[in-house]
Amino acid sequence: MKRILITGASGLLGLNMALDIAGQYEVYGVVNSHAPQTDAFHVVQANLLGADAPARLIAETKPDLIVHCAAVANLETAEKQPELAQKLNADVPGQLATEAARHGIRMVHISTDAVFDGVTGCYAETDAPNPLSAYGRTKLAGERAVAAANPDAIIARVNFYGWSLSGRRSLAEFFYNNLAAGNPVKGFTDVYFCPLFVLDLSNTLLKMLDAGLSGLYHVVSPEFLSKFDFGVRLAQQFGLDASLIAPASVNAGGLTAVRSSRLNLRTEKLTRDLGAAPGISAGLDRFYAQCQAGFPQQIQAMQPA
Ligand SMILES: NC(=O)c1ccc[n+]([C@@H]2O[C@H](COP(=O)([O-])OP(=O)(O)OC[C@H]3O[C@@H](n4cnc5c(N)ncnc54)[C@H](OP(=O)(O)O)[C@@H]3O)[C@@H](O)[C@H]2O)c1
Repeated sequence: MKRILITGASGLLGLNMALDIAGQYEVYGVVNSHAPQTDAFHVVQANLLGADAPARLIAETKPDLIVHCAAVANLETAEKQPELAQKLNADVPGQLATEAARHGIRMVHISTDAVFDGVTGCYAETDAPNPLSAYGRTKLAGERAVAAANPDAIIARVNFYGWSLSGRRSLAEFFYNNLAAGNPVKGFTDVYFCPLFVLDLSNTLLKMLDAGLSGLYHVVSPEFLSKFDFGVRLAQQFGLDASLIAPASVNAGGLTAVRSSRLNLRTEKLTRDLGAAPGISAGLDRFYAQCQAGFPQQIQAMQPA
């Protein structure tokens, strides 16, 4: 059985991936301050900002594969703590990629659609990024550090949703939690994105590793929609009241970090080299099926006391 090191294994992507593939892979999941209560995989507590942490982790776990998800992934936190974001989103990926290259370990580095300014939309991998936020700038620096240190690494620009440890991490949970409680919410009509269900993302990343791909890829849904429309589609999928979602503009205020508005990414490169990732309806079907099976309660029960 191949051994895989997943950083950010208490986060939305890392935890869902670790739980889903435990059994097919021997999973070592790195967590920092939120160790999930599970014996489904090996939970390794490590602060990636510690001296030589990437090198030590690799020496201790000897993985065949690495999926690097850990980041300052919250735009507001990155804006308020740019030095922390620079260290975790840019310096650590470079260090991990250097160690992976030194040991001949295949690696996926997770990046973001927020490297683009979202002015024109419809971005291909060959289009020039122009991040608007500290988050986007530090993630772009991370991409460049990984590409320079380890040209064999996959750099995946993603956007995804799923059920999380806290129950509040993803946009889909925001809509579900509020609509299920009968609360009115706002949905941005002027922010477009290509959200992929987290397990569709995880499966696609593993297939990319199996296929020996390397370099920069947009790993998002081949379809795009506004955040408002995503809320409506989710409400329809769950039989909830979509009229609770009020159309709103992202510029209405309240957010510190500047949001890019047209983050629809082109995915022809992924389709050509691997096949298209699943679309919006297929993803929402699986997200709903997980809810019906009690997965949100199961994952939240793993929260540390
Ligand atoms: N969510 C999205 O829609 C989205 C969109 C585009 C790109 N991305 C990218 O996707 C990746 C995963 O995002 P996510 O939403 O799953 O993140 P998340 O839920 O915010 O989780 C962040 C993870 O990073 C870990 N971490 C933070 N500081 C650390 C440190 N000093 N040492 C070790 N681990 C540390 C956290 O561990 P503890 O909680 O245990 O401290 C947590 O597991 C990130 O690279 C993000 O930039 C996400």
